[in-house]
Amino acid sequence: MDASQFKDLNPSPRVLLGPGPSMVHPRVLRAMATPLVGYLDPEFLAVMNETQQLLRYVFQTKNELTLPISGTGSAGMEAALCNLIEPGDDVLIAVNGFFGERMVEMARRYGANVDRLDRPWGEIFDPGEIEQHLAQKKYKLLAFVHAETSTGALQSNVQDITAAAHRRGAFVVMDCVTSLGGAPVQVDDWDVDVAYSGTQKCLSCPPGLAPITVNARARDFLRARKTPVGNWYLDLTLIEKYWGSERTYHHTAPITLNYALREGLRIVAEEGLAARFARHRANAEMLWAGLEEIDLPPFVPLKHRLPSLTTCALSPRLDDLGGRKRLLDDYNIEIAGGFGQLKGKIWRIGLMGFGSRRENIALLLSALRKLMS
Ligand SMILES: Cc1ncc(COP(=O)(O)O)c(C=O)c1O
Repeated sequence: MDASQFKDLNPSPRVLLGPGPSMVHPRVLRAMATPLVGYLDPEFLAVMNETQQLLRYVFQTKNELTLPISGTGSAGMEAALCNLIEPGDDVLIAVNGFFGERMVEMARRYGANVDRLDRPWGEIFDPGEIEQHLAQKKYKLLAFVHAETSTGALQSNVQDITAAAHRRGAFVVMDCVTSLGGAPVQVDDWDVDVAYSGTQKCLSCPPGLAPITVNARARDFLRARKTPVGNWYLDLTLIEKYWGSERTYHHTAPITLNYALREGLRIVAEEGLAARFARHRANAEMLWAGLEEIDLPPFVPLKHRLPSLTTCALSPRLDDLGGRKRLLDDYNIEIAGGFGQLKGKIWRIGLMGFGSRRENIALLLSALRKLMS
């Protein structure tokens, strides 16, 4: 083996303004260079406890069962579904984008009878229509995406949706991968049974962990399940024994990623949730105004537009792939195209966590102006 063929890893200094991963905070990178300790080292147990405490703050919950699943956001999605679903359960999934589709696929694989409630991509659901659908049969759970990264739409009225589901006896699973830490996610006030997220968006950490929180109602169900959870690695009844007081080995915790998450969350707590949400919103508004000016209008109506991920309608003056390639090659800026129903129709621009900064917006807008001139 001629090892000299493998050059030093030297990635370009990209400005990550796509749907994720987002810019990692330099303090998080520094935390990741911290020496490893064992997964049962008392010092790591303290890191775990602090991380859980900080996660409860960000999820705005008192749920005891709140922890980071090892794996990306999809592992969080899978954990939420596989722990609640038993084969033969009737499940309702609200689909208004790519990640709702993914939930349908996962739920089917765990043996659920899945009904889907569809809305065109970019739109959101009215709680009334969800309740009407829930009335048709006894659903075990309702799942929806709070912040659809494929469309840039933010589902509002979550409280009304959960109230409707609970009136009908269904659990509520909420995907908040692109909202946690960037827009309000009020797990307790909204009475969400299970919510999950990912670390690589508004928490400004690398991908690799999926924070999840489970309320007492869902936890009681978990303990009373008639069948074992269909996925051993994501079985919360096993994982909670490591994160809870028993400290029983389940799998080797990804120590470095947990250091990263703790630091990312500490930064969120220092800024404070209200200030953080206000910053995401103000920066998103700056971007929206700039995009309007250069004739790339935001795709989603203002009233349910997501601050952490903006979609804009593509101009005939811009080539989808060619334009994004020039942004990357000439300006080191990464943004993303649309996919599924929106392929070739929109661009997706993320302003998440550490990446949500005025200088990034100014840079992107001036690059776009050049591209379109
Ligand atoms: C809303 C939403 N849910 C789930 C996921 C899946 O997360 P991951 O790609 O980290 O597995 C993503 C990823 O972008 C997402 O945006």
